[in-house]
Amino acid sequence: MYIDKADKAELSRREAELAAEYEGFKSQKLNLDLTRGKPSSRQLDLSNGMDGILGGGYAAADGTDTRNYGVLEGIHELRKLGGDILGVKPEIVLAAGNSSLELMHRCVHFAYLFGAHEGATPWKDEGRIKFICPVPGYDRHFAITQELGIEMINVAMRDDGPDMDAIEALLRQDPAIRGLWVVPKYSNPTGVVFSDAVVERMAALGRIAAKNFRLFWDNAYAVHDLHDNPPVLANIMDYCERLGTLDSVLQFTSTSKISFAGAGVAFLAASPGNLAKFKKHLGIATIGPDKVNQLRHARMFPDLRALKDRMRLHAEMLRPKFAAVLRSLKENFKDSDLGSWQVPQGGYFVSFDARPGVASEIVRLAAAVGVKLTPAGATFPYGRDPEDRNIRLAPSLPVLAEVEQTMAVFVTCVKLASVRKKLQDLNP
Ligand SMILES: Cc1ncc(COP(=O)(O)O)c(C=O)c1O
Repeated sequence: MYIDKADKAELSRREAELAAEYEGFKSQKLNLDLTRGKPSSRQLDLSNGMDGILGGGYAAADGTDTRNYGVLEGIHELRKLGGDILGVKPEIVLAAGNSSLELMHRCVHFAYLFGAHEGATPWKDEGRIKFICPVPGYDRHFAITQELGIEMINVAMRDDGPDMDAIEALLRQDPAIRGLWVVPKYSNPTGVVFSDAVVERMAALGRIAAKNFRLFWDNAYAVHDLHDNPPVLANIMDYCERLGTLDSVLQFTSTSKISFAGAGVAFLAASPGNLAKFKKHLGIATIGPDKVNQLRHARMFPDLRALKDRMRLHAEMLRPKFAAVLRSLKENFKDSDLGSWQVPQGGYFVSFDARPGVASEIVRLAAAVGVKLTPAGATFPYGRDPEDRNIRLAPSLPVLAEVEQTMAVFVTCVKLASVRKKLQDLNP
């Protein structure tokens, strides 16, 4: 359907048909949720073997009694695993806590309160500071900077990563920029994988930016491929080493969507200076991480190959759900001017761009018949999508039949909201 080509009579006829279809959903008393990128119970079941895996043996390979205090940087086995996921040496990896988001939060807070590096002015004492935010992006990143009153500047995502010309120009013009949030592989929500050229230019930002600028490289979906022969993300640390910009990048990942989302292990990889500074402040907050859980992970994933085998099982469960979303979008919108989307090769999301000005109405219509979608605007700083068009679809949690039902509602809501908006525009 091309609504820009339809006349008023045709649009009114379609509106009546779609409204009737929509009314039909009301009687179904649906209660569906496509909001958050959580693993399903079946995916979590894959790691149930972790329960009791230690069999009473609590010693790490180097003899560390994991039940006791200490070892702030985490046990070697897990630093190695985290390093293998990120493609860096274990010596520059810290394994801590269960949430990479918490590590990002701490990094921002430490830089804000104490400075990004030894001797640096704390961000809080530098006046108005800013972060660059590729959009659409991850709402929880934006929440961290928003809470501290750090101004966020939108930069567009492209098919190969963020608009690097815009980022470099901003950094050259604006001395107040202190950070940049990115998800380099299977970006949340677009699924974009940064090209080698983008990774290299990202690594070079440390040459343009202030010394206390930090690139938050959130590689949450490093091993979350949906298919065999996945795209390969270039190694940013290799470029940084060549360019002398190691201090400008902080890398994050976790096992949240590998083992248990609420009881995994998170990782920070950073230059020796950045890591030492982080540990100095972390050591005030805690005497050490949950090393028993780290050892359980080391037993379950003795190496990267074991971990990748597990990821193939996750992919088998996720593929049909992503396929259902993509099939529905294709069948309904391929030959239309109602929306566009990207086909992700991994990660947890499908990003849909509706016609400008209708995303909030689509989400409202869906909610009114029992289908929860991520709030429109959530993928933008301050919850404000300037064009009101992006909607993030997260099909991992519901069972397949529910994903299909949800999509049936979603496509009707997209069509209905779009036709109504067009009619309104014609009859202002
Ligand atoms: C890009 C991104 N980073 C981080 C997280 C959260 O990771 P963690 O569970 O390690 O805090 C998510 C979860 O949805 C995410 O999409």
